[in-house]
Amino acid sequence: MQSMKAAYITRYGRTEVLNVGKQPVPAPKEDQVLIKVKAASINPRDWLLMRGIYPFKKLAEPFPIILGSDMSGTIISVGKNVTELMVGDDVFGMQPIKGKFGAFAEFAAIQSSAVALKPKEIDHSSAAAMPCAGMTSLQTLRDLVSLKKGETILINGASGGVGSYAVQIARAYGAYVVAVCSAENANLCRSLGADKTIDYRSENFEQHQNQYDVVYDVIGRSSPAKARCALKKGGRYVSTVPSPMIMIQSIFSKITSKFGLFKGQTAHLILVKPKGADLAVMASMMQAGSLQSIIDSTFALEDAPQAFEKSQSWRSKGKIILKISD
Ligand SMILES: NC(=O)c1ccc[n+]([C@@H]2O[C@H](COP(=O)([O-])OP(=O)(O)OC[C@H]3O[C@@H](n4cnc5c(N)ncnc54)[C@H](OP(=O)(O)O)[C@@H]3O)[C@@H](O)[C@H]2O)c1
Repeated sequence: MQSMKAAYITRYGRTEVLNVGKQPVPAPKEDQVLIKVKAASINPRDWLLMRGIYPFKKLAEPFPIILGSDMSGTIISVGKNVTELMVGDDVFGMQPIKGKFGAFAEFAAIQSSAVALKPKEIDHSSAAAMPCAGMTSLQTLRDLVSLKKGETILINGASGGVGSYAVQIARAYGAYVVAVCSAENANLCRSLGADKTIDYRSENFEQHQNQYDVVYDVIGRSSPAKARCALKKGGRYVSTVPSPMIMIQSIFSKITSKFGLFKGQTAHLILVKPKGADLAVMASMMQAGSLQSIIDSTFALEDAPQAFEKSQSWRSKGKIILKISD
């Protein structure tokens, strides 16, 4: 069996359990493609899984686990049911929550339905940055809350991976965008299309009254109860962080929106679904100039532990990239 360099864990723990060494090259299943990975990006789910606190860790395959879900690279073989993609195609994609992660490696097998063709003018790092964070915001704003032109959206955590795509997509949809970030990142958020920024260290948006059609809490620090007064009637609160409370609130949201404290308001939890078609939408937006990936920093695969430390600091501006090959 051929081997490859990969960042993997054999037990849960802090960054010291993250190994960079040899693992077997995966064999693509019949509906998968095998990618020579050029670049991958880190999402908090990678280190949450490493630390054994990822809420869906039971859905991951057993140890050793090669971490990483987002990747961009070139197809080097295709499973027998794959007809729409060919060896040599440049693609980018995201592994599902269930099964293998595996992007932080020289080669990765991934469902063909979870990748899209990478346009030539988008480099592998920008493409690898996009899948999980970008699709989370696309699926939230387009599908979950149906953000409309002229609505006001507050994005809490606007300068990170998910937030930096959210600001741009909300802007492209014609919304008035209020970005919550540190003062240091205000210019970044404005350059991405925010109409207004709020420094969360000096102002608490939860004390605003009746201002927002949507509160998109990318960083999961608020809640429907805390954001209730800031939301307008008919307002929608969305969290990306699956705490037990938001899971319950989103299940009962249709009922609680009818009466009582949350009357006229709904609460939602987004759980991103890897879809090649959505990646293609974002690639088109990039080609049209309405979307870009913000790259915080780039590390070699050997330096994955340092990259993980940076991600765990919650201070990255946009995305952290692992450059795997040329
Ligand atoms: N449910 C899903 O399907 C799904 C999908 C993707 C991600 N997620 C989750 O979404 C969360 C965000 O992911 P991410 O990739 O965007 O993380 P990230 O890029 O690591 O977030 C870093 C950003 O967080 C900001 N931040 C830190 N503390 C803040 C605070 N108190 N208030 C406002 N902003 C703050 C920082 O901005 P400043 O430096 O300006 O403070 C920084 O720009 C994670 O918990 C992740 O697991 C869930």
